[in-house]
Amino acid sequence: MTTEELQERVLRLKKEKRAVLLAHYYTRAEVQQVADFVGDSLQLARAAVGLDADIIVFAGVRFMGETAKVLSPDKKVLMPDPEAGCSLADSCPADEFARFVKAHPGHTVVSYVNTSVEVKALTDIVCTSGNALEVVGSIPPEVPVIFGPDRNLGSYIISKTGRDNMVLWNGACHVHEQFSLEAVLALKKEHPAAKVLVHPECKEQLVMVADHVGSTASLLSYARTSDADEFIVVTEPGIIFKMRQACPGKTFIPAPPSEGDCACNDCSYMKLVTLPKIIDVLTNLSNEITVPEDIAKAALKPIMRMLEL
Ligand code: 13P
Ligand code: SF4
Repeated sequence: MTTEELQERVLRLKKEKRAVLLAHYYTRAEVQQVADFVGDSLQLARAAVGLDADIIVFAGVRFMGETAKVLSPDKKVLMPDPEAGCSLADSCPADEFARFVKAHPGHTVVSYVNTSVEVKALTDIVCTSGNALEVVGSIPPEVPVIFGPDRNLGSYIISKTGRDNMVLWNGACHVHEQFSLEAVLALKKEHPAAKVLVHPECKEQLVMVADHVGSTASLLSYARTSDADEFIVVTEPGIIFKMRQACPGKTFIPAPPSEGDCACNDCSYMKLVTLPKIIDVLTNLSNEITVPEDIAKAALKPIMRMLEL
């Protein structure tokens, strides 16, 4: 079957099954093209609330599907590939995080949305890269904070807020950790007018050379409104599909990782989501996300606290 035929099949099945397809910016272009909504983690969490549908197919990774299920317990949430995890979420096992929280009494626990639902259940307030500064800013400055699991995002928040009472969990994303400062500086030399767009999951030395730091949606919005014509994109390159679509005529250059091969900066988990797998789960209603009721109840509170901010 051609890509177009597969896409038509997805569109037909969505209608038949009263399903919506939510997709993250890092998924394959052909998946984004047939999604009902494409966004960053925060936008996708918001989109999952109050949908007029029976089924949500989540073209993204497991923690996103879990968040959608917690927010919409009455809907079937289907994952096209149950192996689509997240190295950052995996860097924070719930039992170890529980011990970490216990070891720091009196701290407010802020967890990045890239965590398992069990970690969210141990959390006071969830954040995404789109609202992390606002979330931490909402906590009185004298109250100590635990921030997990991304040490790079945590360091970025400390540098922006000057907060000296934030304890960081030592986790990271294997994709964003790979970007090379030398490679970005070399690209900048070749394209001196290009603006450097950096996701805050990257290491500090990359954040320091950025013209703009933000979530995928924020990087997209900066590219849209900037007067510049060229951009060096220091995040997973799936976002470049949307950037090119939104900004015809502008040039987007994916930043390479240390080894110099751009393909290595694909998030292998996000790329597991394919059209045939979407067709399969829509046909068989398989790979449904389930969350135990007590965990869902405990995780809903910090997610809602974020959404209500
Ligand atoms: P955003 O919240 O910016 O979409 O990022 C999600 C993510 O997984 C980044 O690696
Ligand atoms: Fe997780 Fe990194 Fe992939 Fe984002 S890019 S989903 S943080 S592994």
